[in-house]
Amino acid sequence: MSIARDLDGYQTPIPVVDLDRMESNLDRMAAYTRDHRLHLRPHVKTHKSLRVAAAQVVRGAAGLTCATPRELEVMSGASASLLLGYPPVGAGRLARLLAVPEPVELRVSLDSAQAIDGLAAAASAAGRPVAVLVEVDLGMRRVGVATAEELVLLARRATDATGLSFEGIAFYPGHIRSGGPESDDAIRRVSNALAGMLDALAGAGLAARTVSGGSTPTAWRSHEIAGVTEIRPGTYVYNDRATVACGVAQRDDCALTVLATVVSTAVPGQAVVDAGTKSLGREPRGGDEQFGFGELWDRPEVVVRAMSEEHGILDLSRTAWRPVIGEVVRIIPNHVCIVTHLFDGVIGIRGNEVVEAWQVAARGR
Ligand SMILES: Cc1ncc(COP(=O)(O)O)c(C=O)c1O
Repeated sequence: MSIARDLDGYQTPIPVVDLDRMESNLDRMAAYTRDHRLHLRPHVKTHKSLRVAAAQVVRGAAGLTCATPRELEVMSGASASLLLGYPPVGAGRLARLLAVPEPVELRVSLDSAQAIDGLAAAASAAGRPVAVLVEVDLGMRRVGVATAEELVLLARRATDATGLSFEGIAFYPGHIRSGGPESDDAIRRVSNALAGMLDALAGAGLAARTVSGGSTPTAWRSHEIAGVTEIRPGTYVYNDRATVACGVAQRDDCALTVLATVVSTAVPGQAVVDAGTKSLGREPRGGDEQFGFGELWDRPEVVVRAMSEEHGILDLSRTAWRPVIGEVVRIIPNHVCIVTHLFDGVIGIRGNEVVEAWQVAARGR
């Protein structure tokens, strides 16, 4: 692919990654996990690209976490150890999991006897060992068993199943939306609940080699949760308005912005850009109507107030800036993982110069 060096050479809307910021985000998380002797298994849903996965692996990631078969297929080109952090339910999903090229080590987190039985049958038929992490619910209320009794039953079932081995526990503390002292109690509750689960396993003679947790908001406090051996943050690679609002990133840590063009100023008090829900996603911040759906990189006071599919309405009520038609802006999205998933490709810049372009190869199903 030939690369225009100037951002003006690109048709908008298009995501732009500031490589210096991205690398500093990657370095910081790699250093944290090294310092605390934790394995890092980043979730690839945020970037869905081999380019960024390779940058994570080269910094010491022990493996990668995927949610979809497409992510597994693509990421088999980046890491020798993949975790499917999603219930392996359905013949199509199982077939694609087991068709991931060898010698990639396969791990799966799950929370039901049905999922274990289906996975065991598929793994045996394929002659491919799969390691199981039993998902426990430590407060998120999404997936995961709630009691130590259920955990022990599933761990034993995985241990006894032909084709499977029991590797440990997975949990996702996505209910904790900040990394500061206001989360102290919630972190303590997760830690206590996990300790109970681990005691029950040990009492049943079942050892968890891996205890996998850690979202981006809780990543930096993972060492406070006794027993955790690996973390799976995803959003940290790019960050977004949500991680800044959580207090776990600075605005300058936001590595991905959406380049957009002002296409209309006809309605007073606003300007319209060519990035709507099909570029930014529609991720409101609960309880804050003024938050909007994105903000301008160089003018934080200007937010995307409303959107149609291809129209983003910039609110000009708090700025003296009056954009002209054709002016190009950069927007920090609310939730960056959704943005990645909406585009085929990304361009990478250093300073203001475009130096790279890569595909979002693992998007789609
Ligand atoms: C199972 C699982 N692990 C890890 C992550 C990564 O968390 P974050 O988005 O906070 O980086 C997610 C995010 O959705 C997830 O669902």
